[in-house]
Amino acid sequence: MDPIHNPFSPGAGTPPPELAGRDELREAVRIAIERVRRGLPTKSVLMVGLRGVGKTVLLDRMRDDAEDSGIHTIRIEAPEGRSLPALLAPQLRQALLRLSRNEQAKDGAKRALRALAGFAKSLKLKYADIEVGLDFDPEPGLADNGDLEHDLQALLETAGAAAQKAGTALVIFIDELQYVQESELAALITAMHRCAQRRVPVMLVGAGLPQLRGRMGNAKSYAERLFDFPELGPLPKPAARIAIAKPVEHQGAQIAQEAVERIVAETKGYPYFLQEWGKHAWDAASASPIRVDDVASATSAAIAALDESFFRVRFDRLTPAEKKYLRAMAELGPGPHRSGSIAECLGREVTSLGPTRNKLIAKGMIWSPNHGDTAFTVPLFDEFMRRIMPGEDWR
Ligand SMILES: Nc1ncnc2c1ncn2[C@@H]1O[C@H](COP(=O)(O)OP(=O)(O)OP(=O)(O)O)[C@@H](O)[C@H]1O
Ligand SMILES: [Mg+2]
Repeated sequence: MDPIHNPFSPGAGTPPPELAGRDELREAVRIAIERVRRGLPTKSVLMVGLRGVGKTVLLDRMRDDAEDSGIHTIRIEAPEGRSLPALLAPQLRQALLRLSRNEQAKDGAKRALRALAGFAKSLKLKYADIEVGLDFDPEPGLADNGDLEHDLQALLETAGAAAQKAGTALVIFIDELQYVQESELAALITAMHRCAQRRVPVMLVGAGLPQLRGRMGNAKSYAERLFDFPELGPLPKPAARIAIAKPVEHQGAQIAQEAVERIVAETKGYPYFLQEWGKHAWDAASASPIRVDDVASATSAAIAALDESFFRVRFDRLTPAEKKYLRAMAELGPGPHRSGSIAECLGREVTSLGPTRNKLIAKGMIWSPNHGDTAFTVPLFDEFMRRIMPGEDWR
């Protein structure tokens, strides 16, 4: 059918035509934010899930929801190798400048901008990547100790106090939170804890790979009590059906029930894959309704597209040793696998593979669901590895 009208949208962070199966979590976060605004005890929310399950698009939708109800938000994405203070400072400045246009919050926002000036100046030595415009002079003693844990706490508390004056809240949305250094996570946790204790309306809504939960616990042992960690997974069947059928119908076309079921089965309900299969099934069909045969003939195109984008971007960032490690994992199946079995497959000692495994965890390629277990963070990555490194040559 006409590709111009194709509604599906595979792509990292690309909003889907129908955000299926996430209403409950959206509502839970909406309630949490409204509670924070009112000074009621609430946990911050950190969503965890594998690659391509829809963390980013959900985070963005939650942010839109919050902005629509007058909440002040900050949105950052933690790439590898940038410091949290450097990411936070310019975004916080923007939020505070917006807040300073509110009559009730004006003075509070100015004070928070002073805190930001102190914060940026005193931490510049330790975090050379901090670049932020300074609108006011620092206030001596306010967020300017040069110690991130202390200063971030003071900064967010001051910013939250300004939001409170305007009857709103400050909600910080952070994507890819697993890439933030543990010491910086610790400072963030302390700051959120402090704001919660003081009933200052500041909240964190984060998203990350499954290793985030453990990293938070390592950073501060009490993190597990302070945050909710909802798990995002593949969509349950009814939601996966809706994710496919609704966008088609919305374009005035139809898709056969059998075709929907076939897509749901092929994709195992993973959102990224649903978009890719939906897109190719639409393109493969010559007329509405899309039939199961169209899905069947779309499958190889969908897999090829995934290989070239979704899987490939990850694969290309790997060293030869890392590729070999993942290929050995793939040989054993979808996983999780014991470190011992992977080592055996490679004919190596477990300890000698430790550095490779740690690098793969740091890159976000694998994680450890339990001590000694290793699992892919990318769904169906085992199948991809066997496709891209076929045969026995890798050994
Ligand atoms: N609930 C959903 N229903 C249908 N499609 C969805 C849903 N959530 C996400 N998608 C689609 O899945 C794809 C991946 O979404 P997104 O980039 O948000 O995933 P992610 O979890 O952030 O992945 P990564 O870990 O790689 O950053 C996008 O094409 C998006 O449109
Ligand atoms: Mg994402």
